Amino acid sequence: MMSKVAVVTGGTRGIGHAVSAKLKADGFRVAALYVGNDEAARQCREELEILALKCDVAESLDCRNVIREVESLLGPIDVLVNNAGITHDAALHKMDDNAWDQVIRVDLNGLYNMTRPVIGGMRDRGYGRIINIASINGQKGQFGQTNYAAAKAGVIGFTKALALETARKGVTVNAVSPGYVDTEMVAHVPADVLEQIKAQIPVGRLGRAEEIARCVAFLASEEQGFITGSTLTVNGGQYLV
Ligand code: CAA
Repeated sequence: MMSKVAVVTGGTRGIGHAVSAKLKADGFRVAALYVGNDEAARQCREELEILALKCDVAESLDCRNVIREVESLLGPIDVLVNNAGITHDAALHKMDDNAWDQVIRVDLNGLYNMTRPVIGGMRDRGYGRIINIASINGQKGQFGQTNYAAAKAGVIGFTKALALETARKGVTVNAVSPGYVDTEMVAHVPADVLEQIKAQIPVGRLGRAEEIARCVAFLASEEQGFITGSTLTVNGGQYLV
């Protein structure tokens, strides 16, 4: 049997990189999408021996084109991991329009732009696995993140609604909601703030990208067809839902 095809947005760095590596190790043919860092993409191609294709998830035309390209190179898409995300932190009373728009466009509109072109094929073929990366801060809120928290809470709502729409079609839709994970994104949090956050994590450390990737791979597996619409919380006990 041909191995299944997985697409991972933001798949060349951070959590996405770990997801691409894990899915590749599990036997998927993987296309990692990325927006700007050509060097990280090159390393991904070489080290993981996967496709790394440029796509801005905020641009719907980009998404439609890259999905067509993946399908022509690898075949129909079985697994979509909507991982691409950015932060632009500021308290709302100091936030500018750009910080709001960019985060919503990438973290929330990106979900629509990527999922809309693949959902029909998954339904027609009667099989699919969609995994959306949410965040602890979409669940509990965070000072300085009205934009990000709104987008990530939206990710969870999208996940539940689409799960209902596709349950009869063999397509599961789930969210994985990481806490603070040791990636570049978290490294940008001011050091004193990060120390305070770490002190609130019962496990006593940041998460590792590989720990998130294992959860994604679990939800991406064919054997797992009865979990849908759920949010798997992976935050070291920082926020219990
Ligand atoms: N709770 C309550 N009050 C807070 C606060 C908090 N968490 N943080 C700051 N304040 C208060 C300060 O004490 C200060 O009060 P006073 O004026 O009375 O002294 C006031 O707010 C202003 O503080 P700052 O001058 O520090 O505010 P700022 O506007 O310069 O910076 C910020 C605010 C940009 C939000 C900064 O605190 C920050 O970057 N915080 C980190 C936010 C965060 O956790 N982001 C996560 C990024 S990683 C990620 O998102 C991945 C994921 O999914 C988990």
